[in-house]
Amino acid sequence: MEKLVIEGGTPLYGDIRVSGAKNAALPLMAATLLAPGEHILRNVPNLRDTRTMGRLLEYLGASVRREGDTLFIDTTNLTADDAPYEMVKTMRASVLVLGPLLARLGRTRVSLPGGCAIGERPVNFHTAGLQQLGAKCRIENGYIEAESGNLRGERGGRLQGGTVYFDMPTVTGTENLLMAAVLADGKTVLKNAAREPEIGNLIDMLEGMGAKISGSGSDTLEIEGVAELAPADCTIIPDRIEAGTYLIAIAASGGAGRVTHCAPAHLPSLVEKLRQSGIAVAVEEDTIAVGWEGEREVASVDIKTRPYPGYPTDLQAQFMALMTLSNGVSTIHETIFENRFMHVAELRRMGAKIKTDGRFAVVTGLGMKGLRGAPVMATDLRASSSLVIAGLAASGRTDISRIYHLERGYENLVDKLSGLGAKVWKEEE
Ligand code: EPU
Repeated sequence: MEKLVIEGGTPLYGDIRVSGAKNAALPLMAATLLAPGEHILRNVPNLRDTRTMGRLLEYLGASVRREGDTLFIDTTNLTADDAPYEMVKTMRASVLVLGPLLARLGRTRVSLPGGCAIGERPVNFHTAGLQQLGAKCRIENGYIEAESGNLRGERGGRLQGGTVYFDMPTVTGTENLLMAAVLADGKTVLKNAAREPEIGNLIDMLEGMGAKISGSGSDTLEIEGVAELAPADCTIIPDRIEAGTYLIAIAASGGAGRVTHCAPAHLPSLVEKLRQSGIAVAVEEDTIAVGWEGEREVASVDIKTRPYPGYPTDLQAQFMALMTLSNGVSTIHETIFENRFMHVAELRRMGAKIKTDGRFAVVTGLGMKGLRGAPVMATDLRASSSLVIAGLAASGRTDISRIYHLERGYENLVDKLSGLGAKVWKEEE
């Protein structure tokens, strides 16, 4: 196993280019199952998770070929209709094949994802929604078995349009229902749908394939089912979480730099929170720059994670790392996942002063030079990136073990950070 070693305390300077969004690439790859033929997806990050999704599509009978950052996915012949446990256990987002397989084949069997490091993460909204579209769903031997049907009681045919109200906005749940509804008979309305930009990217792809969807960007989506869809040619949006992670890293190191090829409009809350922390932020069309005017001192700021456009849970751990360097006390309230503070114990190993109580964490900042390098362990993707930020800001050496978590979501992390002058490398454990 490899670990990441960071020799911290060096301010980062320069430009860093953002890759395509992992959480857009995964649903868009799954959506290729909806229409037979060769699909083209551009700007697809080469990550452990996108490779896992590629393997799942191949298992289902598709051929997947990568040329640079473009994927050619041919879904003409599907030879399986299930997502096995071995794949779903390594990546929960495998559940995204549920909607498209049901829509195209009329039946599917997808392993039930278990809980994970950040929480229980049930999929009851996915299955309840599909049932509103006429599907029969049952849990059998650890698998979600789903079959479509019509009002005449015939099984295995097309899904029927219906109204779905989500108790809570769910990102992959909304995506699964969108992919199911585009080929259903009649009209589907999704209420209290998630509004994350990745869903907008999926809607753009589906519309390009011939789907009829209105309400993109809002919490109510209306889908008029069509008889068939054509293969897609679509570009993945920039990764807002990767962009946010590097902006925080540059600021936390005391340096200055620009994140390029990003979509600043997708990071409204982070830009505001960075400004409130006293960091200078300049936003241009596809670039965000961070730096300092005067003293390098981070003001303490509170955050509360919310569905988009609120502050993203996927940037909570990274912001906490920044707050360990502040000059005051900051409260961090995680409202999306019940167990997303796994980074706290590791940050404490680096000297951070953090108290937690349920979904609240109170961080007493140590000032910009307060953290000390230490051996720490990555526990999930975003927790790991907060340790990278802390390691870059800390004095001395930080060894982060289990970096496979980072490789799930950050393309070329070592090269990108080295390009900013960071002293970072991989070593065998
Ligand atoms: N929920 C349910 N039942 C469901 C579905 C969700 O109770 O059937 C709950 C969840 O437990 C959670 C809340 O609803 O409390 C929202 O979860 P959501 O369904 O939106 O999460 P997700 O779709 O499983 C996606 C991202 C996550 C990101 C969350 C929240 C992908 C592939 N994953 O997960 O990304 O944290 O939305 O924004 O898009 C990451 O990239 O590190 C990551 C974890």
